[in-house]
Amino acid sequence: MEITLIHGQGHKGSTYHVASMMKKLLADNGTKVHEYYMPKDTPGFCAGCFQCFQKGEEYCPQADKVQKIVESMRRSEVIIIDSPTYCLEMTGQLKTLFDHLGYMWMSHRPRKEMFSKIGIALSTTAGAGAKRVTKSIARQMSWWGVPKIYRMHFSVNASCWEDVPDRIKKKISQETRKLSGNIKKMVGKAKPGFKTMFLFNIMRKMQQSNTWNMTDRNYWQENNWLEEGRPWK
Ligand SMILES: Cc1cc2nc3c(=O)[nH]c(=O)nc-3n(C[C@H](O)[C@H](O)[C@H](O)COP(=O)(O)O)c2cc1C
Repeated sequence: MEITLIHGQGHKGSTYHVASMMKKLLADNGTKVHEYYMPKDTPGFCAGCFQCFQKGEEYCPQADKVQKIVESMRRSEVIIIDSPTYCLEMTGQLKTLFDHLGYMWMSHRPRKEMFSKIGIALSTTAGAGAKRVTKSIARQMSWWGVPKIYRMHFSVNASCWEDVPDRIKKKISQETRKLSGNIKKMVGKAKPGFKTMFLFNIMRKMQQSNTWNMTDRNYWQENNWLEEGRPWK
């Protein structure tokens, strides 16, 4: 199994520790983990040049950094994306990465490999907002076509992992262990549900009448998705 773990932050605080706990529980000796830290691995800000949408993702001025991460996700069965809660949102550096991945939303050119993956959206907060952050992260993954997304959000009542009260650490450990057991059973078995299929079909209808972006339309045509083909089995 391969896992891609994208940290929406560069430091090793509560969010990092919870994500690492999940990584260790999911991984066995044969697991390869691709780990990225924002902003070290974040591409530069999206310049709004539209090259990825209109010509192809390889034309993005930041393609080197973006495609390295996309390739890791493509190879992985599980994608974990975490972020501390900053002002009730994900970190800016993580959002910057997501902006670069808009071209692979279902409304443009989704990767067929995404339709069998498991996503984990994770956030910690001192008090409030982590639930909302995981909702935002999960929304990004669902637009890529990821069919099964788990959300983990914890209010840790602290500004660093060392200060997190033991009772909260215990709760985090129990919930992470339980969830990892469920996820392990799902690896390789995730399939699109009604929501993913419904969205894909609406996008398919849109692509059938697409006269405004031939890069997108040709991509759907080449995959045979405008006719009977689908990115899932
Ligand atoms: C810039 C910034 C903004 C924050 N905004 C919030 C917030 O909106 N709500 C909240 O409860 N905690 C907020 N916090 C606290 C962190 O969300 C919280 O300490 C979190 O667990 C930090 O995770 P980390 O240890 O992985 O950095 C903020 C912290 C920072 C540095």
